[in-house]
Amino acid sequence: MLRREILAIAALSFLPSVVSAQDTVKIGLILPMTGQQASTGKQIDAAVKLYQAQNGTTVAGKKIEVILKDDTSVPDVTKRLAQELVVNDKVAFLAGFGLTPSALATAPIATQAKVVQVVMAAGTSSITEASPFIVRTSFTLAQSSVPMAEWAFKNGIKKVVTLVSDFGPGIDAEKSFSDKFKADGGAIAEALRVPLRNPDFSPFLQKVADAKPDALFVFVPSGAGAQFIKQFVERGLDKSGIRLIATGDVTDDDQLNGMGDVVVGVINTHNYSANHDSAFNKIYVEAFKKANGNLRPNFMSVGGYDGMHLIYEALKKTKGATDGEKLIAAMKGMAWESPRGPISIDADTRDIVQNIYVRKVEKVGGELYNVEFATIPNVKDPVKAAKK
Ligand code: DHB
Repeated sequence: MLRREILAIAALSFLPSVVSAQDTVKIGLILPMTGQQASTGKQIDAAVKLYQAQNGTTVAGKKIEVILKDDTSVPDVTKRLAQELVVNDKVAFLAGFGLTPSALATAPIATQAKVVQVVMAAGTSSITEASPFIVRTSFTLAQSSVPMAEWAFKNGIKKVVTLVSDFGPGIDAEKSFSDKFKADGGAIAEALRVPLRNPDFSPFLQKVADAKPDALFVFVPSGAGAQFIKQFVERGLDKSGIRLIATGDVTDDDQLNGMGDVVVGVINTHNYSANHDSAFNKIYVEAFKKANGNLRPNFMSVGGYDGMHLIYEALKKTKGATDGEKLIAAMKGMAWESPRGPISIDADTRDIVQNIYVRKVEKVGGELYNVEFATIPNVKDPVKAAKK
């Protein structure tokens, strides 16, 4: 062989790796895979994997590579991981964010690097205002809390105690519930805030018992509902005549079956139930369970699944271009069917617009489910809507 030919072949043999580096789009997926929020990480990771199994790993001629990092839901760790993913791995997307402080800690990096940040879990209203590169596929707490307040007052509940986890989404849930409930004519007897980390609900539940409201309105983050219900029963509140009402974070599909019959009848409001009656959701639940040892998908999982859809469709629109500004522009106003129902991305706020369902916990085929019985269609984040 001529030396020239050998060199040509040698050069060719380098080609595939050079091409693949340019033709790979990386998604840095930062989730709490361990620690108190681990169920959120597990659900979203599983949904992202399911989306790729169903839709392939090539979009607009680009190979899609997901790099999963565990931030243990510590915001300083989230920020460091986001920085490394942008600088070292050159990711085109930052995604995930199990808790609000993690999403907020990453926002300045998204802005500086002009990298799209897809918030798949966290639900504080203000998050989308922290960077023009943030887009959300999860929910806001005001979306679910306002309809809960409306339902409560219409259904004879006049005096409520609120109990929330003491951080962003809890404060949003408390404020949006109380503002609506009071505007309708109801009274808030007490507003209780419980620490996020290792919560002990007992002393707060004693205050609830003493205040004797018609109902207790609760928000705790995904993964904390079972502990809350356990202490609610231990304190005898299930037999006190005080009704329990909640955002669907409390009656989380991930834990609902283990809570026991004490939650049967609990009215709550949320964006997703594994029991949602649509052909698409039936396929989703079945495929998710099959791939994950019969684990039931929860509301966090659809944030991950739809976040992947948003990324895939935006890349199709930009024909594979990864410029952050182009991608965000492509995402604005996008609408599609999710396992939760129809959803879209508000073109003005980059926040999710979705149906909120009023649900009642019921036994279906021997298992506990949130059974939807009323729908409030196309709900925009009420906090941002009120600012306009
Ligand atoms: C947030 C986290 C949750 O687990 C949840 O159910 C709602 C909100 C948050 O950190 O924003």
